Amino acid sequence: MLLMRRLSFAVLTAVIFPVCLAAQGGRGAGEPPKNLQVLPKESSRQDVLNVMRTFTAGLGVACEYCHAEAPGAATGGGGRGGPPLDFSLDTKDQKKTAREMLKMVNDINGRYLPGMGRTIGDRNRVWCETCHHGLSKPQTLRAALAGAVEAQGADSATALYRDLRTRYYGSAAYDFSERALPIAADELARSNQRPAALSMLKLNLEFYSQSAVTYQSIAQLSLQNGDTTGALDALKKAIALQPNNPQLQQMLQRIGKPLPPQ
Ligand code: HEC
Ligand code: HEC
Repeated sequence: MLLMRRLSFAVLTAVIFPVCLAAQGGRGAGEPPKNLQVLPKESSRQDVLNVMRTFTAGLGVACEYCHAEAPGAATGGGGRGGPPLDFSLDTKDQKKTAREMLKMVNDINGRYLPGMGRTIGDRNRVWCETCHHGLSKPQTLRAALAGAVEAQGADSATALYRDLRTRYYGSAAYDFSERALPIAADELARSNQRPAALSMLKLNLEFYSQSAVTYQSIAQLSLQNGDTTGALDALKKAIALQPNNPQLQQMLQRIGKPLPPQ
């Protein structure tokens, strides 16, 4: 048990301080931390700041997302010209949540993963960005779109996708690859949101005009809607893009049968 405890402490300190201290320009001055409840109590201010930078980058937020202003402080002392923050205060819920999250990743890296026989170090540990991807509330694209459809109807999902794509394209926050909207559409169709699913697929063609998988999904959805003509039309477009795809040929045979040859 003692060995176990010592071992996991070693793992924890190793996983908590991955950032190279030497690279931080030696700005170690400032008060030593006085209210650490999860990070090792003996951490220097610089150690803590290195961890804090992984929080702001991982969640896409600034320090004040979790840290409250010093009560009664004059303005102008903070990093961005705002009121100075008192980092030791526990007034914000986000800071309390962050502590629980920290305990959770420590458990994952210090207990669960080693318990599966894994050797966990800086390069394979689970950290805030593993889930958060630069968002304070991590969410998959399809969950975000389904939420919008549920709350505000089909059109709102299209608007949301455009907005998210403008803001986050090129970051790790959301998947904007070719298959993301067809997967979201499939989920919407299965939860009886076929009009929304169809508009997601049409939207995808705006960004991926040569997407066979999108035309194939439109064909499937059109069939479910009883629209054989629409299905055939979309399927022919898919086949034009991928003439050797056996799945598409099979589908064509299935749909094509009841129709007289043209
Ligand atoms: C996602 C929330 C979050 C963000 C963002 C964040 N912090 Fe923290 N910070 C915490 C938590 C949680 C603790 C306490 C850790 C513990 O109890 O072991 C803490 C502790 C600190 C401490 C030690 C305070 C003390 O006296 O105990 C300092 C200093 C600090 N943060 C600075 C910063 C700075 C500077 C930034 C911006 C670059 C920042 N933090 C961004 C959550 C956050
Ligand atoms: C296993 C995945 C996972 C990891 C790892 C993780 N988080 Fe989270 N975090 C979540 C989820 C899920 C939520 C809830 C999002 C929601 O409410 O929609 C969340 C919410 C939060 C929130 C509250 C956001 C808000 O405004 O309500 C904070 C703060 C936070 N996490 C900080 C952290 C920090 C700091 C780390 C790293 C020490 C971390 N998280 C690691 C999954 C994770």
